[in-house]
Amino acid sequence: MSSPAAEPSPNKRRLFVTTALPYANGAFHIGHMMEYIQADIWVRLQRMLGHEVHFVCADDAHGAPIMIAADKMGKTPQEFVADIAAGRPRYLDGFHIRFDNWHSTDAPENHHLAQEIYRALRKAGLIAERSIEQFYDPVKGMFLPDRYIKGHCPKCDSPDQYGDSCEVCGAVYGPTELRKPYSALSGATPELRSSEHYFFQLSSERCVDFLRNWTQAGDAQGRPHLQQEVLNKVREWFTVDEHGRGGLADWDISRDAPYFGIEIPDAPGKYFYVWLDAPIGYLASLKNHFDTGRAAAHWHEASRTQQDFDTFLRDPAVEQVHFIGKDIVYFHTLFWPATLHFSGRKTPSQIHVHGHVTVGGEKMSKSRGTGISPLRYLELQLDPEWLRYYLAAKLSGRVDDLDFGAEDFVARVNSDLVGKYVNIASRACRFITQHFDGRLDYLGATDALREAARALAHDVAAALDAREYARALREIMAHADRINAAFDTAQPWVLAKDASRRAELQDVCSRALAGFWTLSVLLAPVLPATASRVARELFGLQRDFLWSDCAELPRQVAPYRHLLQRVDPARLQQLLQPEAKPEAPQAPAQPSIGIEDFAKVELRVARIVDAQAVEGSTKLLRLSLDLGERDAQGGSRLRNVFSGIASAYDPRALVGRLTVVVANLAARKMKFGLSEGMVLAASGEGPGIFLLAPDSGAEPGMRVS
Ligand code: 2FM
Ligand code: ZN
Repeated sequence: MSSPAAEPSPNKRRLFVTTALPYANGAFHIGHMMEYIQADIWVRLQRMLGHEVHFVCADDAHGAPIMIAADKMGKTPQEFVADIAAGRPRYLDGFHIRFDNWHSTDAPENHHLAQEIYRALRKAGLIAERSIEQFYDPVKGMFLPDRYIKGHCPKCDSPDQYGDSCEVCGAVYGPTELRKPYSALSGATPELRSSEHYFFQLSSERCVDFLRNWTQAGDAQGRPHLQQEVLNKVREWFTVDEHGRGGLADWDISRDAPYFGIEIPDAPGKYFYVWLDAPIGYLASLKNHFDTGRAAAHWHEASRTQQDFDTFLRDPAVEQVHFIGKDIVYFHTLFWPATLHFSGRKTPSQIHVHGHVTVGGEKMSKSRGTGISPLRYLELQLDPEWLRYYLAAKLSGRVDDLDFGAEDFVARVNSDLVGKYVNIASRACRFITQHFDGRLDYLGATDALREAARALAHDVAAALDAREYARALREIMAHADRINAAFDTAQPWVLAKDASRRAELQDVCSRALAGFWTLSVLLAPVLPATASRVARELFGLQRDFLWSDCAELPRQVAPYRHLLQRVDPARLQQLLQPEAKPEAPQAPAQPSIGIEDFAKVELRVARIVDAQAVEGSTKLLRLSLDLGERDAQGGSRLRNVFSGIASAYDPRALVGRLTVVVANLAARKMKFGLSEGMVLAASGEGPGIFLLAPDSGAEPGMRVS
């Protein structure tokens, strides 16, 4: 390599950096882009400082949701995942996110590594085999994947939580621990059936001791593995209460066929749970990066010939750094380090956790049309560097959420990037081009100028390294303010009118442009494309900036060429408006009714006493309903109701359930008999019919109003 900072140096860090591997079942949203941009800025800084970085990612290909989604589209999971992967470069290139390698957790390297790691864990005596009761969807005829069982969180009781972890309190648990479970595939109440499963014994003393130490420790350089606030959260997970509840539980790492995943050695029909092989995908992508020879570009000159995946990871100096969101902390701070440690591998050096992106203060939601599509951003020809700058200006090293606000976006970009930064170059270049043929020259000593640049670069590098991007950009912009103020005070437009003050004019403009050069070096991790143009087009450098360029004094400048546009608020507004979806059927609007109209409908709670398939009908089930009514003899009177829910429910699963019935609907004579009411069920555009159910405590016959 020809660049000066690529020389091997004792201070050179060797970094293996990842972002979380995205599930290969959908396009990227703004949250993905934020994480990638955060990591990309960090990686670019380290590279500019001359460190060795291998920055990899991959599609997280496995798991039941992808299998089910592929099946729905009539594709094999492999085809489905390949199609998703083909769409990734548009986003990554579009936002200047430069991974060294993008791989897949379904690649052979990952199959191999996952099986190897599993065998090592088994040899270490940490794999147990137990028969467990698992939810089975009697309608769909399969064991239900965790993500398809929903219910109330066993820890905080939040409703509608998935079967593996709670999005509200962050707890991780098994699906059978959910309260009031239901199948998200069919709506049916799942049945418990038993099956042989494999567990990673996280609750063993060995594991708990290791993790207690690891989570509180740091790497060889004294950098803590975890941020303080993350550590505080993790500590809670170790806590056992006075009833012996809480603490680390063994981790179920197997799933039964049918499953899209990696086969467990010596266990036919069993696959690794996706979260076992997903982080191993970090290693698989790195291995592929080394094996294909692409890593060579980043090796030390001195060690170029001896590097391969295994020797690289064996080097104790190599730092393994994971950027992740706060929702997957449990997996990365407990499961992952334990998996690595007990299989005899390097454990992560740092886990960098960030918060989520909200839009206009709200959590993103596709169904409500909020959120920002990164692709639409690019299609509207909004500058990707605006977004990089804006996100960076709001990012700290903490796990707080980050809110995207349109006005805020326009103000930051226009006032900082255009008003402060670019303004310096456009103004100073003009004089230098016009009067000095592009030559820069400085009057008197320049030591102070260079010293100030070095000091600033030192602080900015420290802030960026600590992921305190907002602080770094504040310092950079404060410097831009100082440069602009000095320029204005010197009044170059006055100097330009006086032929005897040419040298002064050249000095004022040269100092402003030297400042602009420094700013461009420091902004390069955030604005790589602009900085590259500044280096090459404006200052005639034959390469991109290195951090060590920060205090160099440029000697020549080309005529100013437009660098960055202002944001047009109207165009940004187009991004925030939900895209029109003509094909989406609108809910039919009914004329409004008065309360007296509603009062005419008698809704009552009913218990399903019996449910039967109806011979000759694929749609209907015959329900016997108890509405708390009595017959003439004082016995309980049951109603017969036909309901069109056969496609969604196994009749056996309905018996005993409570639902809601229109009790005063006139009885209707049907082909199969008399129907004395109507049960209420929800359905939408997608598949599935969902029976309404009152909350627990309701009794048959209660009026619903
Ligand atoms: O939460 C997710 O999107 C997961 N696909 C992240 C996996 S990160 C790593 F473990 F692979
Ligand atoms: Zn919870």
